[in-house]
Amino acid sequence: MKSFSQRMQHLGTENAFSVIAKAKKFEREELEPQGKKLVMLQIGEPAFDAPEHVKEAMIEAVRNNETHYTPSPGIMPLREAVAAETSKFSCEKYEAEDVVIMPGAKPVMFHMLNALIDAGDEVIIPNPGFPIYESMVNYLGGKPVPLPLLEERDFNFSLEDLANLITDKTKLIIINSPQNPTGGVLTRETLEGMAELAKKHDLWVLSDEIYNKIIYEGEHVSITSFEGMPERTVILNGASKAYAMTGVRLGWAVTKNAKMAEYLEQLIINDVSCTATVVQHAGIAALKGPQEPVEQMREVYRARRDLLVSLVNEIPGMSCRTPGGAFYLFVNVQPILKKHGWTASEFADKVMREAHVLILPGTAFGAHGEGYIRFSYVASEDNIREGLRRLKEYVKTI
Ligand SMILES: Cc1ncc(COP(=O)(O)O)c(C=O)c1O
Repeated sequence: MKSFSQRMQHLGTENAFSVIAKAKKFEREELEPQGKKLVMLQIGEPAFDAPEHVKEAMIEAVRNNETHYTPSPGIMPLREAVAAETSKFSCEKYEAEDVVIMPGAKPVMFHMLNALIDAGDEVIIPNPGFPIYESMVNYLGGKPVPLPLLEERDFNFSLEDLANLITDKTKLIIINSPQNPTGGVLTRETLEGMAELAKKHDLWVLSDEIYNKIIYEGEHVSITSFEGMPERTVILNGASKAYAMTGVRLGWAVTKNAKMAEYLEQLIINDVSCTATVVQHAGIAALKGPQEPVEQMREVYRARRDLLVSLVNEIPGMSCRTPGGAFYLFVNVQPILKKHGWTASEFADKVMREAHVLILPGTAFGAHGEGYIRFSYVASEDNIREGLRRLKEYVKTI
């Protein structure tokens, strides 16, 4: 058999998915025979179900035979709703033609990077950060350049660090705020300084704003609120996190760069033709319907965040700050790792096998995640309490 493409050898993965497969196997083979289960505190998906009115809209769309192709960039009422929603955070008003609908937010990364990156192009990516950024840049033969997000800066980056990373080959900066995995929120000052650098060096920006409705203090700030940014930025967003619609698969790219929008549309034509029609109708209901479910979910996450932060800080050798957004806690476990000579990954594995709690090592999100573990607090309060009880007991024994 002839060989697979070279490209495939460079494609990475999202560790969260492979860790779940390993954990499920461990649970099935080792724990279930003893009547035990893992406490899952690693999952990055809302434990809520999609809002009732969104489900009704999907059912209604099926009944109305919305089962045919749509235009590739999506149906107009959805593109208009996305444009109106995105304009709230931008210095320019977006129109329907600035929006390309996709089956999830991840495809926005895939397609934008496909449209931009040639072999040798440098892309500055947050580290720790969502692993698919690096995977996709490598896949396309580009060079991922890590931008450190450090705990002592509340997981913001320094503008000096950013300026030092920019070279003649830099084409794109990827940012994510609020962030996965740290829960950090980029400040207005950081974003403003970054916008100046992007304009000075004529760079593109991919702004991953998927958690922009899960923010606990103040308003979301988009890089596109700064003049000159909408035409060099693609905003990535979608319904997965805010509306608890991860499995419905609905996302969108928004840009004032007409050529980029045209290329994204062409890529969609070559790829999926269009996003599922019933899904697009669900998106209209999500964006234009009552927003109380979003607020209610956020308040539940806030209570779980506060509970988890206080329980974590009670465990010797673990510490964390209170994150401003998303539903993740990035916990410093350096004293424990130092004492035993473990890596974050070894510690996470021991926590699974010995404490029966599933968390992710910070290094699942890049080298700057060494010394940290990531919790997700979408789990129920009971699960959080039980997981942290087990962890506290385990740490006493090591
Ligand atoms: C930072 C970030 N961006 C994008 C996504 C992908 O969203 P979707 O499930 O809509 O593809 C995720 C999902 O975990 C994420 O954490």
